[in-house]
Amino acid sequence: MIRVNDVHIHYRQGEQTIHALRGVSLDINRGDYIALIGPSGSGKSSLIAAIAGLVFPTSGDIFVDRYRINKVSRGRRAAIRSTYYSVIFQFSEMLGRFTIRENLQLSWHACHGNHNPEKFFERLEYLSAKLDIFNLLDAYPGQLSGGQLQKTAIARALIRDLPIILADEPSGDLDPESFVQVKNLFQEEHENGKGIFLVTHDMKLAFDAKTIFELRNGVISDVVKS
Ligand SMILES: Nc1ncnc2c1ncn2[C@@H]1O[C@H](COP(=O)(O)OP(=O)(O)OP(=O)(O)O)[C@@H](O)[C@H]1O
Ligand SMILES: [Mg+2]
Repeated sequence: MIRVNDVHIHYRQGEQTIHALRGVSLDINRGDYIALIGPSGSGKSSLIAAIAGLVFPTSGDIFVDRYRINKVSRGRRAAIRSTYYSVIFQFSEMLGRFTIRENLQLSWHACHGNHNPEKFFERLEYLSAKLDIFNLLDAYPGQLSGGQLQKTAIARALIRDLPIILADEPSGDLDPESFVQVKNLFQEEHENGKGIFLVTHDMKLAFDAKTIFELRNGVISDVVKS
């Protein structure tokens, strides 16, 4: 479904060129559970952003089914995102003027419009129970702690119920109980047929994945588990 083919990403920073990715190739399909571990600055977020069509590779290609996401129009890229991906960003994308419930509704609406509202409420119940966030739904993002915000951001992404979950360091701020809730939720989404691509430096979270790669200095340097 997704094919990352020899992707390089260079950033210009003044006089300097930063080589974030130096030739990464991998496939992500429905039913996969892949974790990519690697130290800070190794290029994990850059890779997720490129797969999601938010950053353009300097060279190489990313195919999502028959679409080359780095070559299609902006509108097509947005359509690809809302058809294929639930993206959990490293830094929350919550809209501060809206409650958590409204943020989740907006996230659903951006993908599914007014279709199937029953499914939205079903997903809301399911995710709120799994993540124990019922009591946070009527709060505003600014009123939440870092860990609470991270859990609600996971719900905001997963409410869309799309085939591929891209998760960028989803457990950084979580207490042990929340960590287990998130780990179990990912496992259950995987069992329900979603493809998961998770980047993290936390080996405890990566542990459930069927395949674990290590990214180091912009290349996949090791297959830790397959
Ligand atoms: N927009 C940008 N402009 C310039 N340099 C960038 C940009 N985004 C990332 N970089 C650089 O690219 C490299 C990889 O960054 P990236 O955020 O992908 O790493 P990461 O593996 O996600 O790190 P972390 O574990 O800290 O989240 C770093 O050296 C970073 O400074
Ligand atoms: Mg990162």
